[in-house]
Amino acid sequence: MAVRAYRAAIAIGVIGILLALLGFFCIFCTGDLIFSFFRNWSNNRYITKALEKGTQPKIGVLDDELFLRPIVLDQLKNIFKPDKTQSFYYTVCGDHGTGKTTLVRIASREVGHGVVYVDVPPVVEGFGVAFGKAINFAFEEHVSFINQLIGNTDSEFISSLHFYNIQLTLISFLIDESDKPKWVRALEAFQRAANAYQIKHGRPAVIIYDNISRLTYKYPEILDTLQDDAKDNADSRTYIAVFISSEGFVPRRLESRSAWSRAFKPPLEIGDLSKEESIEYLVNTRKIKEEEAERLYELIGGRMVDLKIVADKSLARQSFSVIEKSVLNETQKKFISAQIYTKQKYHKVACQIINSLLESKELDLDEYLGFFNNYKEADEILEKNVFAYHPGTNTVTFQSKSVESYIKTKADIFGIKLIDLTPTDENDINSDQATTSNQTDTIIPDKIIESENGKSEIK
Ligand SMILES: Nc1ncnc2c1ncn2[C@@H]1O[C@H](COP(=O)(O)OP(=O)(O)OP(=O)(O)O)[C@@H](O)[C@H]1O
Ligand SMILES: [Mg+2]
Repeated sequence: MAVRAYRAAIAIGVIGILLALLGFFCIFCTGDLIFSFFRNWSNNRYITKALEKGTQPKIGVLDDELFLRPIVLDQLKNIFKPDKTQSFYYTVCGDHGTGKTTLVRIASREVGHGVVYVDVPPVVEGFGVAFGKAINFAFEEHVSFINQLIGNTDSEFISSLHFYNIQLTLISFLIDESDKPKWVRALEAFQRAANAYQIKHGRPAVIIYDNISRLTYKYPEILDTLQDDAKDNADSRTYIAVFISSEGFVPRRLESRSAWSRAFKPPLEIGDLSKEESIEYLVNTRKIKEEEAERLYELIGGRMVDLKIVADKSLARQSFSVIEKSVLNETQKKFISAQIYTKQKYHKVACQIINSLLESKELDLDEYLGFFNNYKEADEILEKNVFAYHPGTNTVTFQSKSVESYIKTKADIFGIKLIDLTPTDENDINSDQATTSNQTDTIIPDKIIESENGKSEIK
């Protein structure tokens, strides 16, 4: 009898211990599940809110220096307000400093509703965090209920609970998937919110990725994933992605993939201001005298960032010749960095390209690639902002008027022979013509004159 009672007592003891352990497990497990559930729930709420309001990125240009470009702004706003049938994603391109970011941010603020703007940061490793911030997504790494409870205690009993904690962490990962890269988690969270947005408003949300060339240099596979996701979500009309890029090789990478089939074609290109717009900006917006504005335009053309820089310098009372010198010096640095200056690796091939461009103003991409032994070299030079690729027309041109101005001052270095053709009669108006040194019998005029639309061209 006593033995039976003894056994029963032991059994009850064991059951008690097991129940206690189960109790612990349930308490902590429930704690973690509730914790994760609450975090996901509040995250979704914040993202939905961000999507409703739009990201509202800062514009970064002072109001009294801002030059509005209504035609481009309208084009962008149309893209950012897709209707329910919209099933393409977009690419917006243009050389460095044409004003893409500024215009995209203005348009995205004006549309607001449903538009998320994500800027790839200069340190691309921060892309996931930037993405999360744009959509209000909190990335608290897994902090379990049990961890918060035990703190840093040294107690052996409490430490043994770590075993359970590991199990619970695994369960929690199934819920919040925190082992994935941040950008993937942000993308998935955005997609869920876009889905809800689509159901509520009957139209797709919009996500803008600015500066995607930064990703392409170091993590091209991320851009590939974003593009594939953009295709799938354009198909399902869940969200419309807009890729903004300055570098010619980025659209070419996008174009080379099967997901390009769902891209709107041709890409929207944001280019330079026309002569009229440039003068209006310099004279009316920046209050520069008309005569000075004309000279500055002749030097640098209608590149927005260049106009801003020379306007700032002119207003700081720098003389035209000082401004000119600094523009030409900066351009020379680009030539050296592209390794096309005299005696550098790509000098010869660059001379050929320059002379062809002086002749024809633009080259088909095939013609441009034809100058090189391999595409890598062709891309390498394109990245250095001396020449520019235009995806819309599939052509290559000089990157800016400053580049043309610089070449004119270094005609001997690039094998261009300037011929002094002082007019001998009234009809002979081109006094400053150029020819390649190995084509001395063919006169190639390099008098850069304005076409009707105000863009500079070689006639
Ligand atoms: N509409 C505008 N009005 C006045 N200034 C402008 C305007 N757009 C751009 N700018 C000026 O030109 C600079 C470059 O513009 P922005 O950064 O938008 O060009 P971007 O094309 O995005 O350049 P990148 O290709 O290098 O990213 C801005 O910092 C701003 O000072
Ligand atoms: Mg930009």
